[in-house]
Amino acid sequence: MPKIEKSIAVFTSGGDSPGMNAAVRAVVRSAIYFGLRVYGIRRGYEGMIDGDIYEMRSQDVSNIIQRGGTILKTARSERFRTPEGMSQAFENLKKHNINGIVALGGDGTFKGCLEFNKVHDIQCIGVPCTIDNDLFGTDFTIGYDTAINTALDAIDKIRDTADSHNRLFFVEVMGRDAGFIAMRTGIGGGAEAILVPETKTNMEQLIAKLEKGWKRNKASSIVIVAEGDEAGGAFEVARKVREHFNYYDTRVSIIGHMQRGGNPTCMDRVLASRLGVAAVEALLEGKSNLMVGMIHKDLVFTPFEKAIKHNLDINMNLLRLAEILSAN
Ligand code: F6P
Repeated sequence: MPKIEKSIAVFTSGGDSPGMNAAVRAVVRSAIYFGLRVYGIRRGYEGMIDGDIYEMRSQDVSNIIQRGGTILKTARSERFRTPEGMSQAFENLKKHNINGIVALGGDGTFKGCLEFNKVHDIQCIGVPCTIDNDLFGTDFTIGYDTAINTALDAIDKIRDTADSHNRLFFVEVMGRDAGFIAMRTGIGGGAEAILVPETKTNMEQLIAKLEKGWKRNKASSIVIVAEGDEAGGAFEVARKVREHFNYYDTRVSIIGHMQRGGNPTCMDRVLASRLGVAAVEALLEGKSNLMVGMIHKDLVFTPFEKAIKHNLDINMNLLRLAEILSAN
């Protein structure tokens, strides 16, 4: 292990995700374990620009591993896109002799790190935290498992009432650009159809399938719509279906931001703990501009450029599975 002479900082940025707190805890505790001084930056890049930076002690992260949200708060920063904003942020880091940062967030957060690094000399390691699971270089992002279980719990409850009333429900789950939440919750919730942004939605096929279900006296039907599906959100898809086929009593339910909150699952807590410690170790080894992830149970480092730009394909095998299981 190289000689430790650094102060590092940790911050959370972009949309929050359950497990961020567990990752903050892991970064703080491991940094202290390795003899580093560790700072927290509040409100992501916004706080970096405003100098909202404070030294963190081990007890500052007590009793947070189980809590959703982020004790460091989060923000999306326009100011950080400007050279002035970045210079101000760098000055503030220098005041505390911080030369390594751990960024917890998604693609926007890592884009920020990349740009920062082009002009200022700062080591940066990213930890993938987003409920969307849309980063290349990790099987799962922190928060995804919790989000899909929250959504699934809601879908199960909707199924109960859908079944009692013989209704057709269009349920919208989060995912502006990615259908991973929709795909897993659709399979787990036994949905009749799953609409995701990665594949073109064929409305005729969808209507034909729902009609077939009606003729078979299906008691209830659930269609999962990812927020970013190109056919529209759940309201729009429901409207289009009703235009052609209105035998079913239909309802729309948007699960929304509750998917972003709540106590992280054990999976997310353990993932966050592993990746948080690995990020600090990576800084100590002199690594930079990398996202740490887990692939097939192994720690993997992926350059930011690749993690954010490399389009993640939806698993077509899973979509096929959903098709087979809902065909009759
Ligand atoms: O990136 C996570 C995410 O929850 C997306 O699924 C969603 O589209 C977006 O954030 C919502 O962002 P906001 O909280 O700013 O409305």
